[in-house]
Amino acid sequence: MKAIAVHPGEPDSMHLEEVPKPSVTDVPEGRGVLVKVLRVGVDGTDKEINAAEYGAAPNGDGYLITGHESFGEVVEVGPNVPSTIRPGRYVVAMVRRPGSSIYDRIGLQDMTTDDVYYERGINLLHGFLAEYYVEDAAYVVPLPQSLREVGVLLEPTTVAEKGINQAFEIQRRLRVWEPRRACVLGSGTIGLLATLLLRLRGLEAVCYSRRPAPYLNSDLVAELGADYASSQETTLAEVSESHGPFDLMFEATGFSPLVFEAADVLGKNGVLVLASVTGGDRRVEVPSDHVNQGFVLGNKVMVGTVNASRGDFERGVDDLIKAEAVYPGWLSKLLTTPVNGLENYREMLRRLNEDKDAIKVYVEVG
Ligand code: BGC
Ligand code: ZN
Repeated sequence: MKAIAVHPGEPDSMHLEEVPKPSVTDVPEGRGVLVKVLRVGVDGTDKEINAAEYGAAPNGDGYLITGHESFGEVVEVGPNVPSTIRPGRYVVAMVRRPGSSIYDRIGLQDMTTDDVYYERGINLLHGFLAEYYVEDAAYVVPLPQSLREVGVLLEPTTVAEKGINQAFEIQRRLRVWEPRRACVLGSGTIGLLATLLLRLRGLEAVCYSRRPAPYLNSDLVAELGADYASSQETTLAEVSESHGPFDLMFEATGFSPLVFEAADVLGKNGVLVLASVTGGDRRVEVPSDHVNQGFVLGNKVMVGTVNASRGDFERGVDDLIKAEAVYPGWLSKLLTTPVNGLENYREMLRRLNEDKDAIKVYVEVG
């Protein structure tokens, strides 16, 4: 079968690779799920993998099949797969697989303390930009038929979901936390989905991003009943004056200096969630006494978040269903940029790298 692959370490090596079709029996103990891939979304991580800044091939293979935002249909299951997963069912696969730390052993591989982590389509495991994949039922999440159109957004949703669920988990320290005002930094896919999830949890939200309104992303923020502010027109301190103090802030711009501006304006008892993977080596000067004193005297928390657990995927499914009910049609507007067929991987890369109006670029595989 065909797959889109890279040679990790070799810049711009994305190509079509002929690979063996997997089989349910590749997974031990009858837990195999064979999935026909329907759609796969791509993001900044795929961009970095193709630029050879990130990613590794499975041991012994000279290539890595890319793609970690999957959506597919089950075609065959092993004898020990639970009845929630049957042929015809739509499914999304989780991305990270357990290593050896204690967190991995309790199903929280997203919290691993191992140096090496295993992520399908990213690090040491093949991904989903192929005609089929096979996976252990433990890492396959079923979706209702109603999510056929937007199910490919589940994986990025879980990234926002985990960060927000972590924030609520941490804030149980306050016994009576009733967050009212949120600020999301960044209006890409993750920023938009974080704004959605916060609105679904009943918070007022403002989304702070570079480009001045109006454009599709700021319109989408408005459709959620949230406000939009451009960093070219207003500072974060001004946004905090007009919309804060913020109980929860979620950073998803990829521009690390903003973290310290956010830390400086976070409200008392507030929580700042950091979700940008910033591989560069940018340095900035920060008002360290002021930020530190604000954190100490205001009992504030800053927390990093990566990947997502099975619980975040399940809650993600519930939130996608809820989003379709509360903001009908909103999710599908994120699916701006379809690319037809695996063979059009160059077009996929071009859209990913150059199309400034694209929100989600995805491949229609099947
Ligand atoms: C993926 C996550 C992954 C992270 C780090 C993101 O693009 O969506 O699942 O954990 O990259 O590799
Ligand atoms: Zn991703």
